[in-house]
Amino acid sequence: MFAMFITPHLCVVHKITATTVTVAYIQRVLALCQALCIHFLIGSSPHTCVVGTTISISQTLGCFSAMHPLRRVLRAHRCLRWRPLASVSWLLLRTCRASCNLSSTTCPSPERQQEHGVQKDFSSRLATGPTFQHFLRNASVPQENLSSLDVEDPPPYLTVDQLLGRQRKVYLETYGCQMNVNDTEIAWSILQKSGYLRTNNLQEADVILLVTCSIREKAEQTIWNRLHQLRALKTKRPRSRVPLRIGILGIRSIMRGCDNMCSYCIVPFTRGRERSRPVASIVEEVRKLSEQGLKEVTLLGQNVNSFRDNSEVQFNNAMSTSLSRGFSTNYKTKQGGLRFAHLLDQVSRIDPEMRIRFTSPHPKDFPDEVLQLIHERDNICKQIHVPAQSGSSRVLEAMRRGYSREAYVELIHHIRESIPGVSLSSDFIAGFCGETEEDHLQTVSLLREVQYNMGFLFAYSMRQKTRAYHRLKDDVPEEVKLRRLEELITVFRKEATKANKTSVGCTQLVLVEGHSKRSSTDLCGRNDGNLKVIFPDVEIEDVTNSGLRVRAQPGDYVLVKITSASSQTLKGHVLCRTTLKGSSAYC
Ligand code: 5AD
Ligand code: SF4
Repeated sequence: MFAMFITPHLCVVHKITATTVTVAYIQRVLALCQALCIHFLIGSSPHTCVVGTTISISQTLGCFSAMHPLRRVLRAHRCLRWRPLASVSWLLLRTCRASCNLSSTTCPSPERQQEHGVQKDFSSRLATGPTFQHFLRNASVPQENLSSLDVEDPPPYLTVDQLLGRQRKVYLETYGCQMNVNDTEIAWSILQKSGYLRTNNLQEADVILLVTCSIREKAEQTIWNRLHQLRALKTKRPRSRVPLRIGILGIRSIMRGCDNMCSYCIVPFTRGRERSRPVASIVEEVRKLSEQGLKEVTLLGQNVNSFRDNSEVQFNNAMSTSLSRGFSTNYKTKQGGLRFAHLLDQVSRIDPEMRIRFTSPHPKDFPDEVLQLIHERDNICKQIHVPAQSGSSRVLEAMRRGYSREAYVELIHHIRESIPGVSLSSDFIAGFCGETEEDHLQTVSLLREVQYNMGFLFAYSMRQKTRAYHRLKDDVPEEVKLRRLEELITVFRKEATKANKTSVGCTQLVLVEGHSKRSSTDLCGRNDGNLKVIFPDVEIEDVTNSGLRVRAQPGDYVLVKITSASSQTLKGHVLCRTTLKGSSAYC
């Protein structure tokens, strides 16, 4: 069994319900996958935002801030033996080894790798992570006649040969709206390129893919029911046939692709040019989610604030894009279209009780209208991800990020002035091509200077096709990358603890998610900055209902007075049940 959740880089849109509990959700998914012998689950959906980066194993090497829950769950399912180095390459390695049934030539155990002295190589191969094609691998069988199909570059630990469909038959079943139908066609075009045939007959299928956004509870239940039915097909399948593969593919994005061409990044090659969904269709979707009582929506996209809906011809003559001060692009300035500020405005007007978040943005696209809107609207969370990647202007230039450290720091000041109390997070890459000790120290100093509330830190892993692959040398030794990564993690944690401690004594609005994983007498929720807040589950006054005494339920907004803080969690005591509109945080 192998579960793969693709996160921002697959860009789901999606929605989060307040009742969505991240770890519980993963646990349920893993248990079900195990029970049903599902080998691959490509998931989007609620947890992608909540613990998204935790399980962003498709893309990168390391991230730690939210890794503990996943680690615990995987360990409980014996998928993972944890090692102290917080590196997703190990996570991948263990998951892959324990559950993928990869042969020893494609996925040897780390111990064996060490014996053969090639651990470094294997780590770097794994670091590139599994993709959709990985799913295909086990569904194909060896054949003598190798076709030279033009398949996308496989992850380094899979050969092109293993990805070929070789006339295997795939049955695609779509749930939900037109977007899912489009996604099905995208999935099909990849499969077709890989040599698969499509069938409308379930009985003759070798691969069954259910395509859904699978987030609404009803849709999700439908999928689970369907999976139970499909289990029968799998178990009854004659041994003479290749094992049946069942997967769930859920992709919902407000935009796809990226035109930025950062030199380390594979996204522009795998996801193509940037293109956005029409505003109207997103607004309509959010409206439906609101009608179902959802309390939080996160707009997801590779470059979410570069959003540009050009579907309406009359907008094409509008003004050209205004970038953050000191920022440039790797492409010709674009003109016209409905921009992110417009989308955010429209979406946040739908339901004042629905929290709106967005991720993942690029720092170049934070014009004042966007910052102003975040400041003004109670229901747009004051939480901004501002991926810096490095604190060294020299490295930033090699990464082709389009800004210097100084411009980035200026933007951070501007954001903080425009949105007092804003919670900030960032991505950083340790050990990019040519990064010196001095460059690394610049990154350390940026972490200290900004004091992020959340951070996602990665060791650099060279990806084929990228500009860095063709033009730069991956010359920072693996152990140096990991040492630097650890140093960044340590500094980040210290600074985040300091930053989060400034909330102690303040009263914050928390959206309740459910009981705390550690204690059934505690509840857990998220504050506006998306930090986890734990507080005792006691009777409280319901200020929305003439002071009635109630217990907070998942989906409720409560006011919590913060009493302590760590780098990842706040603790406090709950004051009352309230509404988003009716109350805001105060210190
Ligand atoms: N190596 C390491 N980290 C990477 N990221 C993207 N590409 C790479 C790579 N080749 C990180 C960046 C990005 C996050 C989603 O993943 O920090 O913001
Ligand atoms: Fe990749 Fe850069 Fe685009 Fe982000 S902005 S998806 S890092 S190319």
